Amino acid sequence: MGKFITFEGPEGAGKTTVLELLMKELTEANSDIVFTREPGGILIAEKIRDVILNKDHIEMDSRTEALLYAAARRQHLVEKVIPAINSGRNVFCDRFIDSSLAYQGYARGLGIDEVHSINEFAINGVMPDLTFYFKIDPKIGLERIAASSEREKNRLDLEDLTFHQKVQEGYEKVIERYPERIVIINAEKSIEEVVAEVKQVLKENQLI
Ligand code: TMP
Repeated sequence: MGKFITFEGPEGAGKTTVLELLMKELTEANSDIVFTREPGGILIAEKIRDVILNKDHIEMDSRTEALLYAAARRQHLVEKVIPAINSGRNVFCDRFIDSSLAYQGYARGLGIDEVHSINEFAINGVMPDLTFYFKIDPKIGLERIAASSEREKNRLDLEDLTFHQKVQEGYEKVIERYPERIVIINAEKSIEEVVAEVKQVLKENQLI
């Protein structure tokens, strides 16, 4: 069985950039790791992603949003993550259930327990073996996004600083729940330092 590793954090924490660098380096070293993301990673979930993140969808209700993330999660797990793990490959996934707990459960105010319960139905017992949490001051994260011309702003990026501060508080509550699974990375350091730190933890856990 392969291992399921997830990467979490607020906007602008750099996790996607770190994953891209890791993918490049590890693919060149002939590693067999599956790199994927949520919401998305397969056709149906990418389509759900477009619906969720479309800037025109300002009417979207918070519960609808939470259910759509859970639906995309289910399909992605069944089509991509579970088959890869069953074939012995490790899966590195950009975001998973902790994002829903922090963003929809806490920041949107739906309740961490409530969002956890709809996700239990979706994941049916599949949880990450290890999670990296990229910790950054939300203000710095939003400044990084504003400064990045490459990144297209999505519906959640358009939320104000207060929302992103709540996301961070939500993640802190999630970390209290799962301290044994979540490794905290200081994402305010340079990308090179962050990549080195993540690799160190992956090596210690014999994941690369
Ligand atoms: P990304 O920008 O990291 O690709 O993530 C897309 C957005 O979706 C980001 O603002 C975080 C948000 N999100 C949730 O609110 N709940 C979730 O369950 C997931 C996976 C992402």
